[in-house]
Formats: sequence, C-alpha cells, structure tokens
Amino acid sequence: MSLNTTDINRLMTRFDSHASVWLFGYGSLIFKADFPFLERRPASIHDWSRRFWQGSHDHRGTGQAPGRVATLVPDEGAVCHGMAYLVTPEEFAHLDQREKNGYLRLATPMRFADGTGAEGIVYIATAGNAAWLGQASDDDIAGQIASARGPSGRNSDYLLELARALRELDVCDTHVDYLAERVRELLRS
Ligand code: SIN
Repeated sequence: MSLNTTDINRLMTRFDSHASVWLFGYGSLIFKADFPFLERRPASIHDWSRRFWQGSHDHRGTGQAPGRVATLVPDEGAVCHGMAYLVTPEEFAHLDQREKNGYLRLATPMRFADGTGAEGIVYIATAGNAAWLGQASDDDIAGQIASARGPSGRNSDYLLELARALRELDVCDTHVDYLAERVRELLRS
C-alpha cells in the first residue's frame, strides 16, 4: 500500500448520498476536532483495541524518526471507547488528507451511551501498511513517543492529550494510561 491513502479512501463512496454520516474517533480525532460537525456524542465500537502501533511520518514524527500514533487492532470481545461526530460527507476530503499516512475508511457499527447505535465510518491503519510499526513493549513504545516530534508537534503531546481526553470521558484504557505514565517519567528525567 502506498504511504498516501487518500486515493484509496476516495473510492469509499458508500455514504456519499447521505445527508450526514457518523465518524467514530479514537485517537487524535477525540481531542482535535478541526472540522465542522453537526453533533458529537461519546460512543464505542466492539471487537477492536486501541494500540500505538502505527507509525507517523507526517504529523508526530518524520520519515527518519517516525512517531507512534493510535490505530485499532482486531480484538474479539474488546470495546473501544471514543467520540462520534455527525458530519456531512463533504468533510471526508479534509479527513482523508489528515489521515493519509496509512489510515483507511472502514464502515462500522457504533453504539452511543444511551444504548442507541448507528452505522458510520472509522479510520483504521491496518497491519502491514507502509507506515506500520506494529507491536513492541510498552516501554519501547513510550521511549519512541517521548523523543519523536513532527510537523504537528511533539509525539508526547498526542499521547498526553489523548490520555487527558479519555479521562474526561471517564474511559479507562490501560495501554494509553501506562504509556502516558512512562512518558511523563521520561520527560521529567
Ligand atoms: C482517530 O483518531 O480516530 C484516528 C487516528 C488519529 O487520527 O489519531
């Protein structure tokens, strides 16, 4: 897969004729909503876990020193909590650009806190994409995050902002919480 997924994502036309579409965010889309939305609600999707296994060459790292950002990995029975945004289909041109470093649009069911649900879109960077870094020990991941930086800022800010936003949503994510703790220690030392 090429490092730029915008052309592939443009072929995903499934929701183009809809007046609005739900977008599920689990990473930077939770704490940085740089797009207009009609409504937003805490939401969750099933059978996925959030992991810092995706490389970032364009936002939180560089080609020479990639950062690590969140993606979702299949995990039967797991629930990933995040934020859902109701957007118009036109917003996907901007979102495809923002998520171009390996993320593909995937149609997914999502559930809202009130028990209702909807079908919508999530951006997932799947295993083996050109920017994929994959599994490593949490301590190695924390070390990489503590030192990386890219055009959108420090990799540690991405992680710490996400940890803060999840706390505000009352979400406990042990992977994110452990990484945030380690990165804080590394930044202090
Ligand atoms: C997301 O937030 O849903 C996708 C990954 C990211 O942009 O951090």
